Amino acid sequence: MSHGWRDRILATLMAMAGVVLTFWVYSHFISGLHLGRGLKSLYLRVVLVFFTGVFSFVVFGLLERQQRELERANAELGRQRDVLQGLWDATGVVATLPDLEAVLQRIVDVARPLFGAQYAALAVLSDEDPSRIREFITSGISSEARAKIGHLPTGRGLLGEVIRTKQVIRLENIADHPASSGFPNEHPAMSSFLGLPLLYQGSVVGHLYLTNKPGGFTSEDEVLAQLFSRQAAVVIANARLYQEREAWATVQERERIGRELHDGVLQTLYGLTLSLEFLLDTQESLSEDLRRELNRVTETLSLTMTDIRMYIQSLGTSPVDFYVAVKDMLHRTGNGENVDLEFHDHDYLTLDPQIVHDLVLTVQEAVSNANRHGQADRIVVGWESTEWEYHLWIEDNGVGFDTEADTGKHHFGLENMRRRMERLKGMMDVTSAPGRGTTVQFRWPRSNTISL
Ligand SMILES: Nc1ncnc2c1ncn2[C@@H]1O[C@H](COP(=O)(O)OP(=O)(O)OP(=O)(O)O)[C@@H](O)[C@H]1O
Ligand SMILES: [Mg+2]
Repeated sequence: MSHGWRDRILATLMAMAGVVLTFWVYSHFISGLHLGRGLKSLYLRVVLVFFTGVFSFVVFGLLERQQRELERANAELGRQRDVLQGLWDATGVVATLPDLEAVLQRIVDVARPLFGAQYAALAVLSDEDPSRIREFITSGISSEARAKIGHLPTGRGLLGEVIRTKQVIRLENIADHPASSGFPNEHPAMSSFLGLPLLYQGSVVGHLYLTNKPGGFTSEDEVLAQLFSRQAAVVIANARLYQEREAWATVQERERIGRELHDGVLQTLYGLTLSLEFLLDTQESLSEDLRRELNRVTETLSLTMTDIRMYIQSLGTSPVDFYVAVKDMLHRTGNGENVDLEFHDHDYLTLDPQIVHDLVLTVQEAVSNANRHGQADRIVVGWESTEWEYHLWIEDNGVGFDTEADTGKHHFGLENMRRRMERLKGMMDVTSAPGRGTTVQFRWPRSNTISL
């Protein structure tokens, strides 16, 4: 029975009971008394007024309760509207956001205040192993605090439970759940928890986790979160589609530029070298000076053609072997006699062709600096990688230099290297001192989509 009916019956019974009681009091107590009619009717009125008062008190109490319930329902409706508005905002910005990561970030940033959570996170699963977390986007936690925690959740503990069961999990306290495996040391304290899968057309596109709502999450939060997650899943699926289309268009465009360069510019240059060689072969009358000059031009042309070929290769999407590319560059520039390559693993095979192109130019500049400025007789190009980052270094035993000293304008080498590393969200570090050789080091994260 609804509250409304109960209250109505209660109020009616109260009124009836009031009338019955008034009569009962009158017939049992007042009518038997030896009093004047005036006094009797006065007593009767007093009793009536008393019961009317009690009746009103109860009925108004009931009304007030209904009013409060209405207000609560209104607030809940308002919240649902906020959730929908938040979702709408999130959907609206998708078209203007540069990449999937920004879309994911937007979704957690919207979800966190909507549900009154202190922290929110969105996990995207690995394509190869859908029980592992590939990306973990957070809201409410500073990037320094995140860096301190160190690694992504592995998907083994409680988060893994949400992943495995594809069910909503709502908890008063995370630690109470049997699957909870505890937190790393630097992890912020977390108690209340709401975790749910984001399902799009039956498949999981990610997971949403909300924690630390003061007072805990309610069953209404759970219902709303499910509504939110359905919409968020659509948003993510759309963003992915958009990204794939963009990537495809980029590949097409790069291939087109590559073809133009190959069939146009490269062929023209090739024609030029042929003409020059023909001249050199047939014109016996050329002076020695002119001959030398023409030979130099032919050589420069052929170097330029190698450069263009390398550039065309970098435009493609097929993997380029960084080790081979460095060797090739050293040979081509005639800079490699005193260079040793010390590559500690084969992870350079996973590098993007465009990145390989940048890195080869970086090594080229560092080796040329070591030879030109350092007069080094031994140079080492080193490579190694960890689970999280790549590490590349160029070490020489040359004269070294003061890294603090202002080299002035017109020095672009080191600056270019730094810029290239910034593009990879990595770091460059130069260690050198006069007489002690120079080491230039580069470190950059393995995946640019995970921002730790
Ligand atoms: N390996 C090295 N050994 C000794 N000195 C170095 C080395 N690398 C850089 N330097 C010093 O740092 C300066 C800046 O190097 P950078 O590569 O930026 O410019 P550059 O080589 O002088 O000019 P550019 O590279 O633009 O042709 C150099 O002029 C040199 O004095
Ligand atoms: Mg230089």
